[in-house]
Formats: sequence, structure tokens, C-alpha cells
Amino acid sequence: MNPFLPTTVAEAEQQSQRLDVRAIREDFPILRQTVRGGKPLAYLDNAATSQKPRAVIDAITRFYTQTNSNVHRGLHELSERATNAYEGARATVRQTLGAAEDREILFVRGTTEGVNLVAQAWARPRVKPGEEILVTEMEHHSDIVPWQILCGQTGAKLVVAPITDGGVLDLEALDRLLGKKTRLLALAHVSNALGTINPVKRIVEMAHAKKIPVLLDGAQAVPHMPVDVRAIGCDFYAFSGHKAYGPTGIGALYGRAEHLEAMDPWQGGGDMISSVTFEKTTWNKLPWKFEAGTPDIAGAVGLAAALDYIAHIGWGPIEDYERTLLAQATDAVAAVPGVRVLAREAPRVSVVSFTMEGVHPHDIGTIVDLNGVAIRAGHHCAQPLMDRLGVHATARASLAFYNTREEIDALVAGLHHVNEVFRQ
Ligand SMILES: Cc1ncc(COP(=O)(O)O)c(C=O)c1O
Repeated sequence: MNPFLPTTVAEAEQQSQRLDVRAIREDFPILRQTVRGGKPLAYLDNAATSQKPRAVIDAITRFYTQTNSNVHRGLHELSERATNAYEGARATVRQTLGAAEDREILFVRGTTEGVNLVAQAWARPRVKPGEEILVTEMEHHSDIVPWQILCGQTGAKLVVAPITDGGVLDLEALDRLLGKKTRLLALAHVSNALGTINPVKRIVEMAHAKKIPVLLDGAQAVPHMPVDVRAIGCDFYAFSGHKAYGPTGIGALYGRAEHLEAMDPWQGGGDMISSVTFEKTTWNKLPWKFEAGTPDIAGAVGLAAALDYIAHIGWGPIEDYERTLLAQATDAVAAVPGVRVLAREAPRVSVVSFTMEGVHPHDIGTIVDLNGVAIRAGHHCAQPLMDRLGVHATARASLAFYNTREEIDALVAGLHHVNEVFRQ
């Protein structure tokens, strides 16, 4: 039994009453279009990137039409307003993540850059040959490759904690692998390829009991659940704006102040310095020490607008609605002949990852696209996970709170079409 899924359809429908999805859809202009010769767009590729509400688009337009200027350096009014908007966005991210201080929030390009920053600025000067970085079998390449690069640079070793056949992290094995040589545990809060939610608070407690810091990859968590980095207790937390209804090219890395203070910058340039001579340069204070060069100011403003938009709707209605929709989607997709849903019994959000007997996932994606249904097919940047589960690829429908039961029906109709094409 999956504790995250409603037990009955009645219970599911009751839970979803509080979110007015028709009204919500009006906020997302892109969803109104038809594709593939007049089919209504059913956008079920939200784990790759989510769509943007008018509030985000307007905030970016407003920034460029009324406020645009560089930050931190100017004395004039526009620069002051741009600085306030940028630093205000940082405060919004801090609030969203439940961090204690604005200086613990670094703007980065996204999750990938956040993980690389920790690998290069925290781990590289600290990790010694023979020490270990522990990841899990369900990681996105963004939480594997930066550590492989680090291991190449330092002589450290990448160690991988196993998952079960059901797509759940094996906590006992993880605990055993958290050893004397482990320098950092880096893992996904939510798996992008399966939707599995990891019990991160418990995992952080396990690691901290052995004095091992933890980096969480929150790319797939921030769009679907409230996150509180202090309640979780993690040391670092990275996420991407574009998966959380914000713009591309912006995200944030949370780092506990004690870590960030102890770290040297990872990039040099304007804004990250306090003073420069040819002989010696001193660093700026947090968080600017880690933000070399002109940042994505409009992106930060757009990200804050996205986080405000989510907060305005409220996590209660969003989580209830998404839980219902996921239960419906899982049951409906699994009922199609030949379909196998991966990690079906795992605690999950948003994602239905599946295979169809004898059909390549790319063919599934191509055929449902003819019905206007956008899903993703492939390895989802998690090739080691695919290897572990014994599949080359999966088809993945990933949901957001603007998706509807009708869109799930369109997907299912497409899957029946796949069967017609491949099994006649
Ligand atoms: C779990 C997870 N981690 C990291 C990433 C990388 O995010 P980005 O490409 O926005 O840096 C993704 C993107 O799909 C993801 O799903």
C-alpha cells in the first residue's frame, strides 16, 4: 500500500475539491494552445520543465520595462530598485526553503550548478585521496558526474547506495555505507525518473550521527512539496527555478552559513570581491562571495514571482490535488495492457514512469504526441538507475497542479493507440 495515495476514488475526489484547476489553467497562457493539427495540448512533461504562470511572465516583463539596471554597483534609482528586487528575490527563496538567513541563499543557474559549486568549493579543498563521496542509485547525472570529476581531481572514491527493485532507497544499506571514510552524502530529495520521495530528515539524522554532511538535490521536490531545510537539517540544498514554474537559467543553493563562511569562492570576477590589488584580493561577504559577475537579475525576480504564486495558492490544495491526480494517473496508465509502472508502490510525487511490453519508450512518446500529449521518453539523465532497474529507458508522464483528469485520459487513449499500432 502506498501511504501517499488516496485509498478510494471518493476520497481522492474529495481531497481535490479545494483547488480550482480551471481557474489555475487560465494563469498559464501556454496551456491554451493546440498542437499536432488541432489537438489540445496535454503537457505532462513537468519534471523536465514546468510551464510559467502569467505572474512570472509579467514580473520579468515589468523588470525589463521598468527596472532594468545592474545590481549592487550603481548609485542611481534604477540600480537601487534592481538591487532591491534582486535581494528581495533572495529573501523570497530563503523564506520558501525555511533557511535562517538570506546570506545562506546563493543564486546559481540551477541544480546542476549548485551541486558543482559544492563539489568544487566545499569538497575539492577538503576531500583527501581514499575518502568517499556517497550517492545513491537513483541520482540524476547532475548528482553523479560532478562527484566523478571531483574524484578524478582528489583521488576520492564514489560509493553508491543501493535501491530496492521497487525503486526505494535501502536505508539499512545506506547506513552501513555511511562509514569512517565518507566525506559527504549527496542524494535526491525526489527522484526525477521514478518520483520516489526519500525520507530525507531521517537520512540526514543517520548521516549527522556519524558527522557526515548532506547535500540534497531538491530539483523535483521544490515544485511539489513544502521544503524546510532547517527541519530537514541538511547542510546544502540545491534546486532549479524552471521546474518550479519559474524561468530557466536561475536556481538556488542553500548552504549552512558555517559551511559557506569556511569556503573560498569558486569563481572570480566582479561583485565577489571586497578589494583587489595585483598582489592580493579579499573576498566579499556572503552571499556575494559566491556570485561572481552580473547575475541573472530578471531570472531571480521571475523565480520569486513563481514562489510567491505557489505560496498564494497554498501547499495544502496543491498537494491534495497532485496526490489525487497521481493516483488516478497511476491506476489509469497501469490498466493499459502491456504497461508496467515502475516504483508503483513507492512513496511518490508527480511521476508515472512506465514501460510497455515490446515497445520502445521513444515509440510511446512519438505516438501519444500525435494525440497532443507531451511526455518524455529515455533515460531521464539517470542511466545508472535504468541499468539498475534492467531497462534501457522508460516513458515518463510527470504532473503539475494545472494538469487535469482529461489530460490523463488523453494519455491513456494514446497508450491504447500504441497497442493498436504494435499489436494488430
Ligand atoms: C533530480 C534532478 N536533479 C538535477 C537536475 C538538473 O537540473 P538542471 O538541469 O535544472 O540543473 C534535474 C533535472 O532534470 C533533476 O530532475
